[in-house]
Amino acid sequence: MANPPDPSSRGVNTTLTHAGSNPGDCHGFINPPVVRGSTVLFPDSETIASGKQKYIYGTHGTPTTDALAEAINALEGSAGTMIVPSGLAAVTIPLLAFLKSGDHLLVVDSIYFPTRRFCNTMLRDLGIETTYFNPDIGADIEALIQPNTRVVFTESPGSNTYEIQDIPAISRVAHKHGAVVMMDNTWATPIFFKPLDFGVDISINAATKYPSGHSDVILGLVSATAEHWPKLVAVRTNLGVCANPDDSYLVLRGLRTMGVRLERHQASALTLAKTLQGRPGVARVLHPALPDFPGHALWKRDFKGSCGLFSIVLDGGASTDNWQRKAHAFLDALQIFGLGYSWGGFESLAVHVSLKDRTVTPPPPEGPVMRLQIGLEDVEDLLRDIEQGLAAANAVP
Ligand SMILES: Cc1ncc(COP(=O)(O)O)c(C=O)c1O
Repeated sequence: MANPPDPSSRGVNTTLTHAGSNPGDCHGFINPPVVRGSTVLFPDSETIASGKQKYIYGTHGTPTTDALAEAINALEGSAGTMIVPSGLAAVTIPLLAFLKSGDHLLVVDSIYFPTRRFCNTMLRDLGIETTYFNPDIGADIEALIQPNTRVVFTESPGSNTYEIQDIPAISRVAHKHGAVVMMDNTWATPIFFKPLDFGVDISINAATKYPSGHSDVILGLVSATAEHWPKLVAVRTNLGVCANPDDSYLVLRGLRTMGVRLERHQASALTLAKTLQGRPGVARVLHPALPDFPGHALWKRDFKGSCGLFSIVLDGGASTDNWQRKAHAFLDALQIFGLGYSWGGFESLAVHVSLKDRTVTPPPPEGPVMRLQIGLEDVEDLLRDIEQGLAAANAVP
């Protein structure tokens, strides 16, 4: 008889469709039930004493959260995945797990702002010092390593401006000095970049974005190598962090269509990014899949695709005094794009982003940066909407 096919040789859409699905455990139903619960009953006192029952209490996991964790492990190639209440919690909890008072942390300067805020407030108050590094640093990060550097935190592409980091080079140096490498991989998802294959120890995902895909869930995922997983289990147990089963179910459902949704987000965003290059009022398009984007070669080397999030830098004109007025004129002229935070859902969104907190890399000098989340609408309609926004911004002197 032929050997059964090796699941690791499957295509990503096959994995997305079937991972975490065990109909045999659910009376044949394809989807797992949403198990809500605190108490789990034991058949007898000996089973309690043995500690061998699979489920013991709701905070330690349920069949619903396990189904999602199993699916994410299949995508990430991780030994374990912790599901936490938000994408931001997926950033802060591993930092708390791997750092203690007196430690030093390296964080990329193009980091998601709330990650910086956490480092500059709570970690600082715990006696943990953060140094921000240039996203272009590569192996030169060695110069910033101190004897007490325990974690290197990356996010590639960077938030809002999409700088690509040389993750393999950074990981090699970090490991040489005994530091743990974490990566916020929300932009690419494990479909377009698998952090653990590039030397990362802890892969972080805001499942709020593409995995959920419908702007109706907030959830975070932390996936780890076998070496680092036990520490995450310990911090989960100590902090009592656990995920809501209803939200976990919705993210598992979202995963089934994430591949096809991302194909559409990718195609529409690229069409718009290319079309907007050189348009009057657009100083620059920030999208790592554009050949003239500074990090493009690294992106091409390491990434399998791009999502629906990119930015345009508006032509700010002669005076920075008008930047805000231009940004607001652009946003207020949009009729299809919603004005709101977050991304990764089915609908297009636009915001004016602030980069004033960066300490190493200066913001684009040409004008205000507008972040566009390209949804699943018809791309011709989106282009017309952006053109209306540009016309309004161009009308501001
Ligand atoms: C790169 C990145 N990481 C993490 C998060 C946090 O996710 P959540 O909104 O679920 O807390 C966000 C949210 O915008 C993000 O953009």
